[in-house]
Amino acid sequence: SQIKGTVEVEKVAEETRIVLKNVGEIDPTRIEEYIARDGYFALAKALQMEPGEVIEEIKRSGLRGRGGAGFPTGLKWEFTYKASADQKYVLCNADEGEPGTFKDRLIMEGDPHSLIEGMIIAGYAVGATKGYIYIRGEYHSSIEILKKAVEQAYEYGFLGENILGSGFNFDLKIRLGAGAYVAGEETALIESIEGKPARPRLKPPYPPTFGLFGKPTVVNNVETFVNVPRIIMNGAEWFKKFGTESSPGTKVFSLVGNVVRKGIVEVPMGVTVRDLIFKFGGGIEGGRKLKVVQTGGSAGTFIGPDKLDVPLDFDSYAKYGVSLGSGVILVADETHCVVDLALTVMRFFEHESCGKCTPCREGTRMIVNILERISRGEGKKEDLDTLREIARNAGETSFCGLGQSIPVPLLSIVDNFEEEFRAHISADKCPVGVCEFKKKK
Ligand code: NAI
Repeated sequence: SQIKGTVEVEKVAEETRIVLKNVGEIDPTRIEEYIARDGYFALAKALQMEPGEVIEEIKRSGLRGRGGAGFPTGLKWEFTYKASADQKYVLCNADEGEPGTFKDRLIMEGDPHSLIEGMIIAGYAVGATKGYIYIRGEYHSSIEILKKAVEQAYEYGFLGENILGSGFNFDLKIRLGAGAYVAGEETALIESIEGKPARPRLKPPYPPTFGLFGKPTVVNNVETFVNVPRIIMNGAEWFKKFGTESSPGTKVFSLVGNVVRKGIVEVPMGVTVRDLIFKFGGGIEGGRKLKVVQTGGSAGTFIGPDKLDVPLDFDSYAKYGVSLGSGVILVADETHCVVDLALTVMRFFEHESCGKCTPCREGTRMIVNILERISRGEGKKEDLDTLREIARNAGETSFCGLGQSIPVPLLSIVDNFEEEFRAHISADKCPVGVCEFKKKK
């Protein structure tokens, strides 16, 4: 274990560090240490290419958005490049709000310049001269480190006017979120930077054509931007050697819950859930049995031990019903009750619903009421079907991704662990004993 700057890092055997290559190796408050490890060389290289060539290289690499949705980055940049406007923007979504996810925080605190470099390259590629990093307000250290890094990048001429004598100008500012999960939805984030409440817009139009202040805008996640300098330096073919055919590169995962070694690991896409838990995470705490894993974040899927060998990439949801999302692996052992887990996640959705649309606002409230009843031993026979119906309705009719994703966690936990839900309802019993104390007796 070593401490450099503010980040404590212990590399787990067999990690593949592309995104995290500098984390723990450099002092993040000293730009000279970043430059000494080839920092800003990719920017110099990109500035000698045509913007269209930079976009082609990113397209060829197959890089997909690491915020969770996996949209092809090069394509997003191309849409923005092709949209004509007097002003374009590059935004970094650093409002990392997915419960259990803290990968972007580690990156920003350990290697802020890789993010800044990726954003400047994106600006050059799409023809944007202004950028914003929208960062979670609670990430105090990340904010301080990023502010210092931006200052240093200006001092060294990597930001500002005529960058490295290329004639290209790029300004970068930091904006803070104020604790709303939905502000991480890209159009809500845009509204927030514009000074309005963080409420999502209807999509389409998508930000590449109608983004910040109505101008063409690239919005990418922290981890996505950090991959960019690596690809420009080493080439698309190099990048494609890692990961799977449809999801090249690595993924930075957050391992949390009842796993022995909690923390962040970077491994090639296509890693199995089993390897993440047992090889990289050191197995289950206290030698207990694994019961359920939620993959991908609060909007992700709950799976049982039968799905541990699914290889994770952006297609694993479509192929096997297992989400990759933002890369959270939340492990729960045999001492946990699935009704209680479902309730925790759905209370989070209810709390974070912005209230703008009825299916999400009312749907989450109704779901929480039913789950609370089931956990108190007052469940009704028809409750599981009602939960499914409300979840599907919210999924199909909600205004934004928050409400639309409700069925993913809820249906997966109800379908995969139906027996345990039924035991609460028909036998009025929590098989694990977790819910017993909540009963009104
Ligand atoms: P989405 O699928 O609507 O969009 C993904 C990206 O592709 C967006 O940037 C969107 O603008 C772009 N896009 C999609 N179709 C497009 C088109 N036709 N033209 C141009 N651009 C297009 O997904 P969304 O709602 O942006 O993100 C959902 C994901 O966010 C989920 O997978 C979830 O895992 C993740 N998430 C991550 C969190 C975190 O803290 N990292 C928090 C909450 C959710």
